[in-house]
Amino acid sequence: MILGKNVRLRAPERADIPRWVEWLNDPEVIADLDIYYPLGLEDENAWFDAMLKRPMEEHPLAIEVKGPKGWQLAGNISFHQVDWRNASAEVGIFIGNRELWNKGIGTEAMRLLVKHGFETMNLHRIWLRVHASNERAIRCYEKAGFIKEGTQRDGAFIRGKYLGVVFMSILRTEWKLDMAHEV
Ligand SMILES: CC(C)(COP(=O)(O)OP(=O)(O)OC[C@H]1O[C@@H](n2cnc3c(N)ncnc32)[C@H](O)[C@@H]1OP(=O)(O)O)[C@@H](O)C(=O)NCCC(=O)NCCS
Repeated sequence: MILGKNVRLRAPERADIPRWVEWLNDPEVIADLDIYYPLGLEDENAWFDAMLKRPMEEHPLAIEVKGPKGWQLAGNISFHQVDWRNASAEVGIFIGNRELWNKGIGTEAMRLLVKHGFETMNLHRIWLRVHASNERAIRCYEKAGFIKEGTQRDGAFIRGKYLGVVFMSILRTEWKLDMAHEV
């Protein structure tokens, strides 16, 4: 468990699958994710089985948020492509419950995983890709300390047109102590 003030990151459970399927079929949630075909429970079960065989550090973590009735599942966050040789990893995130957008949850979850990446996994660079039109996500990542590196022109084909894909990253040397204390 990676524990923050209002958010915690925990290991994924098979019981999470129905919520994921619900969220990953919500057109607004997946508008800027690499999901281009409807997903069913059996698809997610097969994905879950395959995921368990992947290295532990590439398992998604469930994002939970503190609410009046205790901890509530909100989405997931994960490292992919952990490259130990270069101490670098890509990160991806979604908050599936749209009612929880714009409440700082994505930022806190990202800060928690970045802190874990630098302080526990000894990473040097954490990076991500985001559609140039996804202003909410870009703002969230900037709040978490990421900076824009550049834009891959026409890097994604979404809703009938090509979009730029922005690459963002944070280096451990930029990871400020005051920011680390915030989560
Ligand atoms: C992107 C995502 C993870 C962000 O999480 P979140 O909890 O909603 O983000 P936060 O509340 O921490 O931060 C969002 C910020 O963007 C701002 N924002 C929202 N819409 C915006 C817009 N259209 N333009 C500019 N800023 C915007 C919010 O006001 C907030 O900034 P503030 O705190 O300065 O006011 C979440 O919205 C999500 O999962 N979306 C769907 C899936 C997705 O796009 N995933 C990312 C793929 S790269």
